[in-house]
Amino acid sequence: MYSIAIDGPSGSGKSTVAKAVAAKLGFLYVDTGAIYRTVGVFAKRNNIDPHDEETLGANLDKVDIKIRWIDGTQHVFLSDEDVSEEIRLPEMSMYASAVSALGKVRAFLLQMQRDFAKTNNVIMDGRDIGTVVLPDADVKIFMYATSEARAKRRYKELLEKGKEVTYEEVLSDMIERDKNDSSRALAPCKPAEDAIMMDNSEMSLEINIEKVLEIINEKINVAV
Ligand code: DC
Repeated sequence: MYSIAIDGPSGSGKSTVAKAVAAKLGFLYVDTGAIYRTVGVFAKRNNIDPHDEETLGANLDKVDIKIRWIDGTQHVFLSDEDVSEEIRLPEMSMYASAVSALGKVRAFLLQMQRDFAKTNNVIMDGRDIGTVVLPDADVKIFMYATSEARAKRRYKELLEKGKEVTYEEVLSDMIERDKNDSSRALAPCKPAEDAIMMDNSEMSLEINIEKVLEIINEKINVAV
């Protein structure tokens, strides 16, 4: 099985690129942020402070997460309820970021992520795929862009979905989340030593996809 790890901060475009590349290659696309977001939904619904490792840790046995692919799109289920829409609410980003800093949560989700790569050719995106989840991935790419470029993209995306936000809110959320995700002690968002760095601040989506496919083709023999 082949595995491709794409890591990077929020808004770096990794999900959009990974999804498109997975479709071209016929690989399974796994968005690992979605499962951290689902734990965030669980915490919120159960009135658990997302920073409270003891309480959340003691309740993880009740967190039943499943990922299913419906018409090629990843859906996440919490106790068999499809929460794919709810996890995208802007407030869930902060919940996800908070729970993702907890060791018990990370340990709980690790095997689930590795299992996908055991039985499928995968493109997995996240923060620690190349460093922790799949350290032996065949291809590792770290995608990044300036915070302004990333906030602009996220802002556009939210407007298109009809969400009422300002660019300033999106930018400050992004900066705060970057700080949380890259400064945490456990599996911080950072490139693996053998990752290929890709700054896409000035890159169109089409070129970005093309470049990722080129890198993959150089490393593994998967004809597109
Ligand atoms: O990619 P995303 O924005 O949906 O991720 C939500 C949060 O989950 C993000 O703030 C950091 C965390 N996360 C993580 O710690 N490790 C991953 N592999 C994926 C996401």
